[in-house]
Amino acid sequence: GLVFPKTTEEVALFLQICSTHKVCVVPSGGRTGLAGGAVAPNGEVVLSLSRMNKMYPVDTLANTVRVQAGAVTEAVHHHCLPSGLTWPVDFASKGSSHVGGNISTNAGGVKVIRYGLTRNWVLGLQVVTMQGQILELNGALEKNNTGIDLRQLFIGSEGILGIVTEATLKLTQASPQTDVLFFGLDSISSVLKLFNEVRKAPFQIMAFEFLTDNCLQSVAASRKIQPPFSDPCAAYVLLEIERPAHAGAQSITDMWLESIFEKNLVQNGTLAQSPREAKELWSLREGITESLGNRGFVHKNDIALPISNLEAFISDMYQMFEAGHQGAEVFLFGHIGDGNLHVSTLKPSSMDRTEFMGKCHQADLELFTLVQKHAGSISAEHGIGLLKKDSLQFTRSLTEIALMREIKKVLDPQGLLNPGKIFN
Ligand code: MLT
Ligand code: ZN
Repeated sequence: GLVFPKTTEEVALFLQICSTHKVCVVPSGGRTGLAGGAVAPNGEVVLSLSRMNKMYPVDTLANTVRVQAGAVTEAVHHHCLPSGLTWPVDFASKGSSHVGGNISTNAGGVKVIRYGLTRNWVLGLQVVTMQGQILELNGALEKNNTGIDLRQLFIGSEGILGIVTEATLKLTQASPQTDVLFFGLDSISSVLKLFNEVRKAPFQIMAFEFLTDNCLQSVAASRKIQPPFSDPCAAYVLLEIERPAHAGAQSITDMWLESIFEKNLVQNGTLAQSPREAKELWSLREGITESLGNRGFVHKNDIALPISNLEAFISDMYQMFEAGHQGAEVFLFGHIGDGNLHVSTLKPSSMDRTEFMGKCHQADLELFTLVQKHAGSISAEHGIGLLKKDSLQFTRSLTEIALMREIKKVLDPQGLLNPGKIFN
């Protein structure tokens, strides 16, 4: 079954009825998740928030906006722009992802390095529990030091504790003018050296994204475009920076760029000369997932490492694939400035899917053991959902998992809401 409530009261009434009749419910937003957090594999009723997409007027004194959970991320951006403001949660699927889904998954994306995760941009939440209680959490308060902040429990818990129905979002000045640069580098080690330089540079970083050459080739082939440089490089960085408001600062940025080339940190570089060129450079990064998907079945991982451990981790990881998984082609890209790597492997066309999944499972165990060794996380931004729940203990202790289960029991004693997600 599929229900489309229009109001919070309808959600509450519906959950109450489901509780009475012990019916399981799966909340569903824009369906752009990558961990199976909103799938209903056992005939659960799907509660879609897509008709709850109302956006209230922007409060330009408080820099906030209240929206219903089904509001589409990009629609919120358009709604706030005339006030010179934005909700700085931004990623490739913003055209369909919902605010409620972003909140329930504490979504990441390409601007985390500048603005942080979704959690930082949620002031107030309205949540409905499985028993049909409507909670108003924190309203529109910036400061509210009155005990346990229940709002935070619902952010990032993937809809297992309650259903987000409305939120008061915190806004910031709409993106300033930016410059987009694309660099070619000889190794991942150089990527990290460049990051170190960028961190110290005299401008604000908006994004620092990375991809290996096979990712670039994949996008270029799928979009039938020329790669930006005639000679391939081992790795590439997309850097977006805030354009300095006055001319003097611009020349400082130019000098910084020259110094990067003088230090031989990069092999090649290009600066977008127009918004269209900037968009094209971004498509080389944001088009990777789609281009791999067009080529066949992709097994994905989304891991995080402390930045200082990235280099050692990546070297261990490639060794691991070479030692035991020679048939696998690894596509590495991600939000490297946040320590977040997307590790994707493409099924060889000659291999059947079951065999491939078996091999991926074995490789994942080795990969997660390395993640653990380097103090990382098995899911940086995509969440646990159904896909990663068997590996949760690589990142969270048994004591933590036991406590999470207790919290779940308090809010959903019968285990009816989004069952089987994060843990069984
Ligand atoms: C991305 O950063 O492009 C996505 O999080 C990765 C993906 O779709 O696998
Ligand atoms: Zn990502």
